[in-house]
Amino acid sequence: MSLASRALRRALTTRPSIIFTAVPRPFHTVSALGSSSTKETKQRKASGGSNARTDESITVEYPSDGDLPSSKPVTGAGRAGANVFPTLASFSLQGKVGVVTGGARGLGLVMGQGMVISGADLAIVDLNKEEAARQAKLIVETIKKNHPGTKRLPKVTAHYADVSDQASVDACVAEIVGEHGKIDNLVTSAGFTENFEAISYPIDRMRKLWGVNVDGTYLFATAVARHLMERKAKGSMVFIGSMSGSIVNVPQPQAPYNAAKAAVRHLAASFSVEWAKAGIRVNCISPGYMLTALTQKILGDNPDLKKQWTSLIPQGRMGSPEDLMGPVTFLLSDASAYVTGADIRVDGGYTVT
Ligand SMILES: NC(=O)c1ccc[n+]([C@@H]2O[C@H](COP(=O)([O-])OP(=O)(O)OC[C@H]3O[C@@H](n4cnc5c(N)ncnc54)[C@H](O)[C@@H]3O)[C@@H](O)[C@H]2O)c1
Repeated sequence: MSLASRALRRALTTRPSIIFTAVPRPFHTVSALGSSSTKETKQRKASGGSNARTDESITVEYPSDGDLPSSKPVTGAGRAGANVFPTLASFSLQGKVGVVTGGARGLGLVMGQGMVISGADLAIVDLNKEEAARQAKLIVETIKKNHPGTKRLPKVTAHYADVSDQASVDACVAEIVGEHGKIDNLVTSAGFTENFEAISYPIDRMRKLWGVNVDGTYLFATAVARHLMERKAKGSMVFIGSMSGSIVNVPQPQAPYNAAKAAVRHLAASFSVEWAKAGIRVNCISPGYMLTALTQKILGDNPDLKKQWTSLIPQGRMGSPEDLMGPVTFLLSDASAYVTGADIRVDGGYTVT
């Protein structure tokens, strides 16, 4: 057994929450390159580049649920009030019922809150129904507190589904329609990434990754599309891809994730054509490096990695989940009525350099 596979096996059997078996080499520094051994320099030449490459020694496994803290609702992003000049009515989601998968935490949770602030009722879907229920309550309480004069409080519900399982997805969609009467909008945010070098990526983990990111998007979107078609109603969906669907991140190796997110982006394009005649729009949002509880934990343990990532972002900072509230509201609302099959990259300019 090679050293790498031994390290991987050890990592998998001990199952710590986040594993970085090696901190990547310093990035873009002359001294780092200058102090390299001759052998290493030759290897770098042979690999065809000194910086834009993956480092096969990085291993990061997706953490188990209890390892991350629960999120707090976003504050200061309230509904436009008397002191704010009104914006276009077409941006409003009033009267719409939205669903967000993977909505108990991270980007999905904040996008869901953005949908509610924009006027929608919301169904939060997650493997962790307990956390989804907690957050559903918090979202309503936050609206109540920040907008005491609100005539109607939003209805926000929590639902269990494993998005990679068709029976679970179908049961969940039926439950949401039962409680809300309909679904108009869908955001598919359930997904995850892991880092293993390609030649020893455990096949069961790769299948799970594709099952959640790709099958999960496919299953939820088709279930909601069937519901919209039965109702003969228009709808709008946003799939959460990643800039990794268009570029190859460095230095962490993650080939299956990159391919999965490319699939998510092209599923959005393909469905947008197939369902245009039914009045269903489908778009993709491809976030860059975003600061969630998960990435904060990884970067807290690896400050060098944060420097490397940030050095590649023209805006000079990682994104915050709130940076997605506007793009998702735009794409779900009538403001984007003639936008379908598009991919909006919310990445601080990462992918244009
Ligand atoms: N955080 C980033 O920097 C970043 C960047 C680009 C894209 N993305 C994508 O955004 C999406 C959300 O990422 P995040 O950082 O918020 O992740 P996260 O881990 O914080 O949240 C993901 C949520 O999805 C849920 N989930 C996981 N598997 C599920 C399943 N099978 N069924 C139902 N729910 C499930 C989890 O319980 C969790 O609540 C993912 O698709 C991710 O690939 C994230």
